[in-house]
Amino acid sequence: MAARAGQVLGANARHGDEVVKAAPDLYPHQWSWDTAFIAIGLAQLNASLARRNLDALFAGQWANGMVPHIVFDPAAEDYFPGPDRWGCAALSPSAPDEPQTSGLCQPPLHAVAARAVVEAARHQGHEQLHSALEWLQGFFPKLMAWHQFLADQRVDPTSGLVTILHGWESGMDNSPRWDVAYSNVQVGRSLPPYQRRDVKHVADPGTRPTDQEYDRYLWLVEEARQAGYDQAILTRSSSFRVGDVFFTAIFAAANEDLANLAEQAGASAADRLRAERWRDEARDAVQRQADRATGLATDLDLRTGQKLSTETIAGFSPLIAGGAPVELRKKLLLELLGPRWAGYPGLRWPVPPSTSPASADFRPRSYWRGPVWPCMSWLLGWALERAGEHEAAGHLRGPSLEQLDGLDFAEYYEPFTGEPLGSLRQSWTAAVTLDWLCSPGAARTTAAPT
Ligand code: SER
Repeated sequence: MAARAGQVLGANARHGDEVVKAAPDLYPHQWSWDTAFIAIGLAQLNASLARRNLDALFAGQWANGMVPHIVFDPAAEDYFPGPDRWGCAALSPSAPDEPQTSGLCQPPLHAVAARAVVEAARHQGHEQLHSALEWLQGFFPKLMAWHQFLADQRVDPTSGLVTILHGWESGMDNSPRWDVAYSNVQVGRSLPPYQRRDVKHVADPGTRPTDQEYDRYLWLVEEARQAGYDQAILTRSSSFRVGDVFFTAIFAAANEDLANLAEQAGASAADRLRAERWRDEARDAVQRQADRATGLATDLDLRTGQKLSTETIAGFSPLIAGGAPVELRKKLLLELLGPRWAGYPGLRWPVPPSTSPASADFRPRSYWRGPVWPCMSWLLGWALERAGEHEAAGHLRGPSLEQLDGLDFAEYYEPFTGEPLGSLRQSWTAAVTLDWLCSPGAARTTAAPT
């Protein structure tokens, strides 16, 4: 299985393996958080390739520190919206001329990836470790600039949550998390016409977001263009402004790793303290969103002040953020493995779907409205390992590897039938498989009682 996962990443690689695109046809460019997952998996095979992929992504970092959600490959044209539609370099003084990028961002898992790359190198001999640490010296300031961008431009001063300006920024495009916020987005008459390309790359277009949803997605791109991608304007006036609890949780987790990397990167104590402060503030913000009974955390519509209560996998954000009090962690674990989530009757494998099947919002085949995403099971398992919850992490890893045994490495899976959906040979699915199988932590999880 590991060999096949490695082949998937190899086949998706371009430009001397420097760039692993997110998927063979559906996503022919570098996506931001995909690249972090990809580096985590690649680190197990070839730490230097993992580093080069992170470098290629950060070649698109904006002057204001933002890491864009897509870095475009000029040789790949069959994706919409492409660089012309975004027009970033022409509209924003912060955007690079080359490479061309989108004008949004995605959850900042990159410091987690950087740490995974360094740790993997530690197990691969002195020479590998030396190169990894040398690389880290140059990469760490880029990570700091990225986190500084989020802290300065996106952290909402009242809730402490990271603001997103588009569902695409959450990485969970059509999750029911955003239904209320999108219902307030009025598509303007000036939306230029467009033609979707995504639907032709999947077996069933019903597994992708709807046309009505796409109109809103493209309208928000239009608003961002009209604001010249100016963060101050957009965080004040975009039609979609949400405090994203899951993004915030990843920011917290990434700051933990950033703080841990500081010394090895030769950074100052002040940098480490800054990362620790961001971590603590993000954790507090996530925990404040936790429901008293279930522990599940909610997003916040910053336009209206409305709490966005839905039953999605993002509810488990306090586990991802780390540092949750034992009682909260216990509640969330009971939920995660209980009958509304991984223990829901009739699931093909006992792993958490993206939306609880017990929720009225659940749609088993529609992108982030219900299918199981292996990368999310991995992320939860990773966070549980870090919290010392090895047994619970094993409950996610074992069935996930059975799910992946079909070797489709699908983007997502129908929870009841196990049908692979979306893109097959999706890079991040292959990458998390590699980490599950090959990382030194994998041995411990295998040995843990289940
Ligand atoms: N996930 C989006 C897509 O489907 C873009 O970020 O293309």
